[in-house]
Amino acid sequence: MLRLFLALTIFTFFSCRTNPEATIVKEVKVTKAAVASANAIASEIGVEIMKKGGNAIDAAIAVHFALAVVYPQAGNIGGGGFMVYRQKSDNSYYALDYREMAPEAATEDMYLDSLGNVIPKKSTHGFAAAGIPGSVDGMWQAYQRFSKLQNWEMLLEPAIKLAREGFIMTETQIKELSEKQEEIKTYSPTENPFTQNLVQGEPFVQEDLAKTLEAIRDKNRYGFYTGWVADAIVSSMEQNGGNITYLDLLRYKSKWRIPSVIYYRGFKAVTMPLPSSGGILLPQMMEMANKFKLRDMGLHSPDAIHLVTEVERRAYADRAMHMGDTDFVRVPIYNLMHSGYLDERVSTIKRTKATPSNAIRGGIFQDSPQTTHFSVVDEEGNAVSITTTLNARYGSKVVVPNAGFLLNNEMDDFSVKPGVPNLYGLVGGDANKIQPYKRMLSSMTPTIVERDEHPFLIVGSPGGSTIPTTVFQVISNMVDYGMDLKSAVNAPRFHHQWLPDILYMEEGGFDQATITELEERGHEIKFREKIGQVNAIHISVDGTITAVGDRRKDNSAAGY
Ligand code: DON
Repeated sequence: MLRLFLALTIFTFFSCRTNPEATIVKEVKVTKAAVASANAIASEIGVEIMKKGGNAIDAAIAVHFALAVVYPQAGNIGGGGFMVYRQKSDNSYYALDYREMAPEAATEDMYLDSLGNVIPKKSTHGFAAAGIPGSVDGMWQAYQRFSKLQNWEMLLEPAIKLAREGFIMTETQIKELSEKQEEIKTYSPTENPFTQNLVQGEPFVQEDLAKTLEAIRDKNRYGFYTGWVADAIVSSMEQNGGNITYLDLLRYKSKWRIPSVIYYRGFKAVTMPLPSSGGILLPQMMEMANKFKLRDMGLHSPDAIHLVTEVERRAYADRAMHMGDTDFVRVPIYNLMHSGYLDERVSTIKRTKATPSNAIRGGIFQDSPQTTHFSVVDEEGNAVSITTTLNARYGSKVVVPNAGFLLNNEMDDFSVKPGVPNLYGLVGGDANKIQPYKRMLSSMTPTIVERDEHPFLIVGSPGGSTIPTTVFQVISNMVDYGMDLKSAVNAPRFHHQWLPDILYMEEGGFDQATITELEERGHEIKFREKIGQVNAIHISVDGTITAVGDRRKDNSAAGY
């Protein structure tokens, strides 16, 4: 009897409450710990883990695996990401790169035909579009180094339960999956839950995924990179023109990197370095913006938008020219961040006239929620900022047979051909060309901002090329304009990336007089429904923790 009681107590203590349908909460104000993520079920799981004694890393791992189930358009085990971690005890920062790598068989011209033209969709759809997934190794490395719970199984259990028993999709999720079902049918060799008839209110069950997650639970990273899951990946690659081999899976390794740090008007921002271009773009934009009195110009005034646009344009021109994986190419990081160089760049900005980008070729610019960002803070003050992705929505549209997870199409983030824009209209050159085991350049910018050695803001966003500008604008909204977190996140955004030479603005967010004035200064404006989806946490001086899920889409905050 006593043994049964003990067993039950242990089970209840270690098992997590998993709610298959959680209510979306846009803002919480709490005192201990919080999570903001793209999905309410996942945010609640993170909070539960911390209530059971886990730290921010434990919570982040559980949220990551949960998102692979309840937010399959971007949450993943078949993709990769970046994590910035702040350890409270010594105020130290860590950056984990679990970005996908090109398989050994990858070549510079693998997506070109014999005439040197880009083969449509080859880098974005199907098995050949996938890089070697990094997420499972990333979570395992983070766990080994920083987990407080030291109970890996417990971090996987909520995800397994949700995959096996199902969860209720939101209306937005049903709509977004329906739009991609045909493509998933075309590129996935076997029947899978993503191609079934979707009924609102019915649990969405992923039995194969549950088994894969169990293999990861039982054998950690080796349950994914070796064993039957590896067999499933490699055999389907061989049968469907993919490139990932057993050796590629064995060799995958995430990397701890030195975080990128920048000071902005008395605040210190810590973010992901290369292969995230955000690690240079954000510092460049901050350093250039530092030279202007944005606050005096007024939020979203034509002057402020004009100057920030010019700053963004200049930073992104450097991205295309210089940035790539520093394990393979020498990137002049020091020069790019040098204040003398940035002074010079700023000196070419005209106050009332747009500088035309040296337009080579315009890009097709798309946005749909594909990547996902989440922020976590725990009772001790440790903080995690993670952005993870499959690249496009549902990645390569390939569900691995028998293993039930989607593969990324991250290879498209390489420069497939110099000057040819990728999914996000970004162009690149030699620094970001394809090479075996190289990591493709990213824009993901998970960031932690501190003031006087206290965490102030944990922030990040999806949105492809728009991520660094989104992160910059949220920070600027708070630092320059004194906004509270909710207003800073929900405020309309704008974006310029050098090429195409277009200023993108969120529809309905800016008044006509401002738009007209910007057009008169020479900016070509296009409107977009949404730019980014920010999930952020602010810690105020009195210790109040505010977690906010962006008003855009289903993002949801939780805390206690
Ligand atoms: O790493 C990158 O920059 C891209 N693969 C991110 C894609 C993305 O944010 C899509 N989300 N909207």
